[in-house]
Order: sequence, then structure tokens, then C-alpha cells
Amino acid sequence: MQVAVFSGAGISAESGVPTFRDDEVGLWAQYDPYEVSSIDGWNRHPELVWAWYLWRWQLSRRVEPNLGHRAIADWEQHAKVHVITQNVDNLHERGGSSTVHHLHGSMFEFRCADCDHPSNPVMPELTEPVLEVAPPVCDCGGLIRPGVVWFGEDLPDGPWNAAVEAIDAADVLIVVGTSGVVYPAASLPERALDQGKTVIQVNPEPTPLSDRVTVHLRTTASAALPGMVQRLPFLLG
Ligand code: APR
Repeated sequence: MQVAVFSGAGISAESGVPTFRDDEVGLWAQYDPYEVSSIDGWNRHPELVWAWYLWRWQLSRRVEPNLGHRAIADWEQHAKVHVITQNVDNLHERGGSSTVHHLHGSMFEFRCADCDHPSNPVMPELTEPVLEVAPPVCDCGGLIRPGVVWFGEDLPDGPWNAAVEAIDAADVLIVVGTSGVVYPAASLPERALDQGKTVIQVNPEPTPLSDRVTVHLRTTASAALPGMVQRLPFLLG
């Protein structure tokens, strides 16, 4: 059996990384997600965007993969599993998954925003979030930015093509922890549905996909995912 997983911020929520659209208490709650994760936002106030990523980078390093990440890795004992993630953390890899396609890049890679040169900046240790931090500066004078894909930027070809191939080859797609509103990533579950594939959604809340999926399990990743692929033959009849 070949399984594709399409994950979003919700799967890392139980590790302690706030999602984009549910975090109403953080320092950045007053900002639209667009403001802290778009090329326009970066051009307007790079200090705000850098501080947001610096804090998320620190949080992601401090937290551990949860039962959801670990369950997906365990499925590899029973099926060929491709993880397609919108997340820029590395919790799928740290949870043990061997094939992870990062549609929106990685928070652990950096490059110059002007000359594109890869960078390995010294990151300050913050004990609490700070609203603005000046980004490091490249030798060329440009600002160092995280290697993530922002609104207004194209997805990298490699992970995108690998994701499409994984969807097309999958017998079943598990969609977990995504609001399903950010395109083109959100078109991947639609592609699987258009092909008549079984699509299982795991999300405590309804999403625009809920009416179309084969099954919507309205619960958390850590509750639904352990043992799911092992039980699939029974679930699907
Ligand atoms: N288990 C499963 N789902 C959960 C859990 C959980 N424990 N907790 C929250 N969720 C769900 C929420 O109900 C919501 O539908 O996770 C979803 C998180 O949605 P978003 O915050 O919108 O995250 P995501 O879909 O990954 O965002 C997509 O938007 O800002 C951009 O580039 C960024 O990759 C990101 C993209």
C-alpha cells in the first residue's frame, strides 16, 4: 500500500508550536498571517518578520515530535509513506519519517534576500518572544532571510513535483492539521479527490475540504493517527 500524508500546522500544535490561524494570544496576534509570512510583509518590516521566525525557530528546536508525527513514521513498517508538509519545522523528520517533501521550505535554512547566497547565521537565544529583531546582514549588504516560501513567492519545483507524484501514486491520502485555504498546496487533496481516491481528513474543526473527503475524523492528530494505517483495511471496508 502507498500512503500520502498532507500535513499543516495543526500536527505540530500538540508539540507546542502555535498554528498560523488559531494563535490569538501570541505577540503577533494583532497581525494578519499574511503580514508575517509574505514577501510584502518582509519588504515592509523585516525586523517584525525576522523576530517572528526567530521565535518559531527557537520554539521548534525546543519541542519534540508528538504522537502524530511518530505514528506517521511508524506507518512505514506497513506501507510506503510520502509526507507532504506545509510546515517549515523539522518535526516529521525528527519523528522518524524518511520521505518528507517541504512545500513551503525550511526554517532551518537561510539565505541572503538579495544575492541568494546560503547563510548560516549565529542565532541569538531568546528566552521570550520579542516583537522586532534586526535580521543578520550578508557580506553583500543584503538581509539574511529564512529559507521558507512566503505568500507572493513560487513554491520550489522539486518538492512540488515530488508531492504531485506522491499523490498520483497513493492508494490513500491522509490530510491532517491544515485549514486547507492556502493555494497551490491546498489543491493537492482536491487532486486526489478528483482521481477518486480515498481521502481521510483529521482536524477537530471543519475546513473547506470537509464536505468532499471520504471521512472527516473530527479529532486531533495524536488521537487519530496512531495505528490508523494498520486499521485502514477495516476502516475502508
Ligand atoms: N490536530 C489536527 N488538527 C489540528 C490540531 C490538532 N491537534 N490543532 C489544530 N488543528 C487544525 C486547525 O483546526 C486548523 O484547521 O490545524 C489547522 C491549522 O491551520 P493553519 O493555522 O491555517 O495552518 P496551515 O493550514 O498549515 O497553513 C497553511 O499558511 O501561513 C501559511 O505558509 C503558511 O504553511 C502555512 C500555510
